[in-house]
Amino acid sequence: MTAVAPPTVHPRDRPVAVFDSGVGGLTVLHELLVQLPHEDYVYLGDTARFPYGGRSTEELEQFTLEIAERLLADRAKLLVVACNTATAAALPALRRRMMDTTLGIDVIGVVRPEAVQAVTATHTGRIGVLATPTTVDSGAYEEAVHAVDPHVSLTSVPCPDLAPIIQGGDPFDEHVVEVVKSYCAPLKEANVDTVILGCTHYPIVRPMLQRFLGGGVTLISSGQALARQVEHALATRDLGNPRADEGDYRFLCTGDVDAFRALGTRFLQMPMGSIERVEMGLPV
Ligand code: DGL
Repeated sequence: MTAVAPPTVHPRDRPVAVFDSGVGGLTVLHELLVQLPHEDYVYLGDTARFPYGGRSTEELEQFTLEIAERLLADRAKLLVVACNTATAAALPALRRRMMDTTLGIDVIGVVRPEAVQAVTATHTGRIGVLATPTTVDSGAYEEAVHAVDPHVSLTSVPCPDLAPIIQGGDPFDEHVVEVVKSYCAPLKEANVDTVILGCTHYPIVRPMLQRFLGGGVTLISSGQALARQVEHALATRDLGNPRADEGDYRFLCTGDVDAFRALGTRFLQMPMGSIERVEMGLPV
């Protein structure tokens, strides 16, 4: 008996893969669904190992490589790192590894598009960044902003509790308000006119941040610019899905499926369908 070869899927018909430490990357997926609705998407939330924000570069390189291998097995045509911490700490290593694979897929991260937007938006040359401690320590925003304009001054504030508060779905009580106000205080003191939301979770509390920072401050998040970059990457590599109707999306998570569904449905404001729980080999 001769073996029947599996049907080959044209690279254009493969999904765009998006991953994050949790649900924050859904803010990026939302923009992709708005700008590129005809693509298929596979989203992985590494909820079992959330938060990434205090982890070391070595750990994050291991985690992101492991996740990328899993998404490659799903035949992704492009990899979007919708997590600022993973981008800041692990993007160069991940890019090197992905270009080494036989598929040679491209990897797009969230730091650079925000840096370019922020430098374009500021009138005073004073920019603030709110991000996780690992992202701030990496110096990735300084590098990205100063690559565009070395004269811009950057005030970076590590916010260790903000992503866990958002991911936990806690009610916004007095304690939360005080924590968020304390993160905004150094930026008000530095008199910045533009603030980079340097974590994919933060756009979810954008109204609260705008209130505490003041109406005159421009808030920059990565979703829209990143979606444009994905569109460009697909077009120039002839990888855009040619279909006219809407694509499909599916979700993977490493932690509790019900918790992921409850939060994800709230943030994405659409049903999430079936969610597959995947095991990652490296310890939590
Ligand atoms: N998605 C992560 C980021 O953008 C959220 C924070 C975390 O995992 O600690 O940095």
